[in-house]
Amino acid sequence: MTAPSSDSLANLERVVEDANTAFGATVSTAELEQAKARFLGKSGVLSELLKGLGRLPADQRPAAGSRINVVKQQVEQALERRRAELSQAALSARLAEEAIDITLPGRQRGGGGIHPVVRTWQRIEEIFASIGFDVADGPEIETDWFNFTALNQPENHPARSMHDTFYVEDGLLLRTHTSPMQVRYARQHTPPIRVIAPGRTYRVDSDATHSPMFHQVEGLWIGEDVSFADLKGVYTDFLRSFFETDRLRVRFRPSFFPFTEPSAEIDMAFDSGPLKGRWLEISGAGQVHPAVIRNFGLDPERWIGFAFGSGLERLTMLRYGIDDLRLFFEGDLRFLRQFSA
Ligand code: FA5
Ligand code: MG
Repeated sequence: MTAPSSDSLANLERVVEDANTAFGATVSTAELEQAKARFLGKSGVLSELLKGLGRLPADQRPAAGSRINVVKQQVEQALERRRAELSQAALSARLAEEAIDITLPGRQRGGGGIHPVVRTWQRIEEIFASIGFDVADGPEIETDWFNFTALNQPENHPARSMHDTFYVEDGLLLRTHTSPMQVRYARQHTPPIRVIAPGRTYRVDSDATHSPMFHQVEGLWIGEDVSFADLKGVYTDFLRSFFETDRLRVRFRPSFFPFTEPSAEIDMAFDSGPLKGRWLEISGAGQVHPAVIRNFGLDPERWIGFAFGSGLERLTMLRYGIDDLRLFFEGDLRFLRQFSA
């Protein structure tokens, strides 16, 4: 090893300049660390100079040593400065790369909507609850007794064939209407009774106005003095609330159901709009048959009332002017989105 020559000591200031240039040329921390080694490393320029001090004449050593140290500090400062610059640059680059354009529109989630038939169901519950009716729920898998026998349709009764029934095992069936809920509810409550029971019903049936699974709402009002006029009043008020118009007419057409006597089918017609003047059947109804009142566990001499069973798809079709109920069950988003508001 040689002593630092007076030449290299004379050029000491150049070292700071060289280091600045070398550090300034680096574009990454890794490159900077390599450049650092050339100046401050174990066998870097400055280490070599310091190692050579011992071979200088004693009287020159302190001055030379402190000069080298000053230069070393300056090189270290230059290194720190470049480090800071590089890390700032890296940060800026990352921020630019990950920049979020907050002016872009948000990703659309396509808000879900309530199915139109469910909307009808909810509106019916609200309307009847507001006039004091209870809302009840019951099984879709029903016994023959509740679906038919208790409703005055014993086995082999011809009216049974009006309903094409889905039978399941053990003599159970998928309820063909919500009417069994009249019996279930009335046997569990003391009159006066005012209840609606909306829910799914099933029949072997399929075309533009019939679906194998559809919805009905059953209504039942039993008291000591409940007349057909009450049925007409309650049902007409319900329709006016449901369709949000008084400009509709309601007609009770004589009909037959084994569980009501007299029985009627309820038709309605709008006084205006695209369906103006066209009568449409929306419900079965009638005064509950004394034999059914007895199956409620009540005395038909004392308790009297009415029941109705309306199709929810049918009410929904009328409300929105839809002519094919199969649209309700296809799950086509282009159809369903029109109701999502
Ligand atoms: C009945 O189901 C009686 N339980 C109604 C009733 C209740 C009468 C209480 C008296 C007292 P009906 O089979 O007519 O009646 O059906 C009633 C309504 O359900 C119909 O007016 C129709 O709107 C609807 N409906 C019947 N079958 C289907 C089907 N396959 N698809 C869609 N809706 C249907
Ligand atoms: Mg009918």
